[in-house]
Amino acid sequence: EKGTYPHFMLKEIDEQPFVMRKIIQEYQDENDEIKLDANVRKAMLGADRIYIIAAGTSYHAGLVGKEFIEKIAQIPVEVHVASEFSYNMPLLSEKPLFIFISQSGETADSRSVLVQTKELGHPALTITNVPGSTLSREADYTLHLHAGPEIAVASTKAYTAQIAVLAILAVDTAKAKSLDFSFDPLQELAIVASVMESLTDQKETFEQIAKDFFAETRNAFFIGRSSDYNVVQEAALKLKEISYIQAEGFAGGELKHGTIALIEEGTPVIALATVGNVNLSIRGNVQEVAARGANTCIISMEGLEQEGDTFVLPHVHELLTPLVSVVPMQLLSYYAALHRDCDVDKPRNLAKSVTVE
Ligand code: M6R
Repeated sequence: EKGTYPHFMLKEIDEQPFVMRKIIQEYQDENDEIKLDANVRKAMLGADRIYIIAAGTSYHAGLVGKEFIEKIAQIPVEVHVASEFSYNMPLLSEKPLFIFISQSGETADSRSVLVQTKELGHPALTITNVPGSTLSREADYTLHLHAGPEIAVASTKAYTAQIAVLAILAVDTAKAKSLDFSFDPLQELAIVASVMESLTDQKETFEQIAKDFFAETRNAFFIGRSSDYNVVQEAALKLKEISYIQAEGFAGGELKHGTIALIEEGTPVIALATVGNVNLSIRGNVQEVAARGANTCIISMEGLEQEGDTFVLPHVHELLTPLVSVVPMQLLSYYAALHRDCDVDKPRNLAKSVTVE
């Protein structure tokens, strides 16, 4: 039930801190260490390459997961859109592990890949919010998101839950490989939960930013570099699906190779600047579009902020920034859609779970 909330989407955005805490609880043992199915660990250790298969928002969570698994657990990862993989399978490694990420566990495009890879005899792990779902039943292993039912068509809390579980999975694998790493995901997720709370407490701020940037426009750009690029792709999808504003999530450095031609007087460009080694470059990209008349907004992170930034996110562990930087993006989309009188929870042409290929 929505309770006092006008929309499920807003309720689900607000639930994210609780979901983080629930995940910590579910994935922590009595010694405050990570608790994870030993078979999943074994499957991770046995893989020479991981193939993440997903669609939409879950695909975007997979992009973040790739960074975790490669950087923390040091296993190469490919992330594929399910509907592409299923008709154009790449050359596989000798010992692949397939990870299916799906809120519903019912996405037909992903299931079609699972059927094919099972036929080839490859192991599969499903990360889902619905443990009894098709993808969960048919895979060898399941990790549960514990996000609670997600009703709004636009996925919010499932995305952050997917990222949190992928971080735990990556660190668990790294520990099992005795790799040197320096972060406790459970502790860091607790910090993330508090930061999320502080963001969801500032709804008026994001409502105002949404008004300033999206009230009139027909299109919008989100730009980022490195891990911010992963998040801006999700930001653009969120805005498109509920507000019907044509939006694109773009790699900051790639703009000048063509897309900058679309920038006109007043085009909204929202930049994420939460990554230290590309902080100056993304700001350079913002200047490039501002010089062509774009209406620019920079969302940065404590420690990297500069005067004039529209919003500064509180600091969290650098690998976990997507968990907090996505929250303003979700809220901006929500308010943009609301102000345009769109049906926030049930956008046109869309279903919550896509059970046809
Ligand atoms: O249930 P799934 O996670 O497999 O669904 C995948 C996509 O259909 C889903 O994420 C879709 O993109 C959402 N509407 C995005 O908000």
